[in-house]
Amino acid sequence: MDDGNSFLGRLLNSPTAFTFNDLILLPSYTEVEPREVDLRTRITTKYFINLPFVSAPMDTVTGADMAIALARLGGVGVLHRNCSREEQVNMARRVKRAESFIIRDVVTITPDMRVSDAIHIMNENNIHGLPVVDSFNYLVGIVTWRDVRYSDPNNLVRDIMTGRDKLVYSDESITIDEAKKLMNDYRIEKLPIVDDEGKLLGLITFKDLELRGKYPNASRDPDGRLLVGAAISPFDLDRAKKLDKYVDILVTDVAHFHNKNVMNATRVLVKEVSADVVVGNIGTKEAVLDILSRIERVDGFRVGIGSGSICKTGVVTRVAAPTLFAVANAADALSEVGGFGEIPIIADGGIKNSGDIALALAAGASAVMMGNLFAGTRESPGRLMALEGKYYKEYYGMGSSKARAKRMGLDRYSMPSKEVEEGVEGWVPYRGALSDVVSELRAGLEAAFGYVGASNIRELWSKARFAKVSPSGGLEIRPHNVFMVRG
Ligand code: XMP
Repeated sequence: MDDGNSFLGRLLNSPTAFTFNDLILLPSYTEVEPREVDLRTRITTKYFINLPFVSAPMDTVTGADMAIALARLGGVGVLHRNCSREEQVNMARRVKRAESFIIRDVVTITPDMRVSDAIHIMNENNIHGLPVVDSFNYLVGIVTWRDVRYSDPNNLVRDIMTGRDKLVYSDESITIDEAKKLMNDYRIEKLPIVDDEGKLLGLITFKDLELRGKYPNASRDPDGRLLVGAAISPFDLDRAKKLDKYVDILVTDVAHFHNKNVMNATRVLVKEVSADVVVGNIGTKEAVLDILSRIERVDGFRVGIGSGSICKTGVVTRVAAPTLFAVANAADALSEVGGFGEIPIIADGGIKNSGDIALALAAGASAVMMGNLFAGTRESPGRLMALEGKYYKEYYGMGSSKARAKRMGLDRYSMPSKEVEEGVEGWVPYRGALSDVVSELRAGLEAAFGYVGASNIRELWSKARFAKVSPSGGLEIRPHNVFMVRG
């Protein structure tokens, strides 16, 4: 007999690294209707989002448009890093400026500048009003597009601005409802916020207040701006620090995080940034335990290796930790040290539909990261192509030669594999607006919770019961024996 330590024993006693296709959730007695399900979830130790969807940091998935659209729908985007630092910072700034309650980095003008300058600054920043401040940042007036439109470009700002005597402004304690009322009463579009001495602190715009009403489910930071993450390399502290000024979450973008140099670099990095830091990718229990013992602050785990639809890692190396298997392992490791539910797990790679999302969450994830499903939407940065009457969007792996040609994310992969392609290039069907894709995924997910009898993610963790499916069973539980005209 084999003692388990021999080569044959190691083969025979190996665990089953099950994938999304291998398992199902069993139905249970339920009192939960899908529309009652609450999908709010923790995305990092500090932040919560209303929908457990995260977009992957890939240059065919998440730029500013995707991050804005997904945060408005309740999820969060992680900006890709296959670009210069400045480009990535600019994406982050765009997301943060998309809407807010009080805008903090207000674009201003001084009274001695000309109307032509005001027009130029407004056009440059795509805004329609500028608080006027003196050299000590005291608020002295406001100019709006209406003021400058018909004015002589050579006039001075002080001659056309609404001056301090007629200015409507407020202090920081104002609530959203009070701001709405004040702006309605005075028929103004911009409300400057000042401190006790009258120095400018921020600006509230009517447009932002309207957007709040339009996207009640949005993921927001404490200032009411959209929540956003950004991918980083642990070896590029400078980029991380620059992004740290704007983003809420930094996500390490490393194919194999359980690596001495990567962990050492991250240990330094977490002390230098204030954003929450999600580390990954990892795929085993030991990785979780090792990381927690070596890195002082870990705000989330990005889990799954080799399951991504564009991944070639499993083929090139025969090394993988399929997402579902990896999530369950990570969840167990966290339970062992009492961190389960406190340090969230983001299941990353291989999600094909809402059923896979339900499985990933049930196995212990707090949220799922998706590349493929989001790459096909209007908001992704990838190219759109028509082929034989159908539309497709470009989607490629960050380890593919196309992504690597930009050379910005090469350190995602380990030294030897820098020579090897670990991703493929391809196209995915065009799926239209992100909001439609998200609604469909959400509806499917809520239905799954209904079948299981769970009204939120915590309940799903405790109530979910799994069953293995045979290959023939797998075929049976999907549409079969029909000539499909739709679906
Ligand atoms: P899906 O299945 O949503 O997966 O397309 C997206 C995730 O795949 C990972 N990723 C890669 N993995 N080679 C890999 O082995 C690659 O070239 C590659 N590019 C992305 C990544 O974790 C992403 O979130």
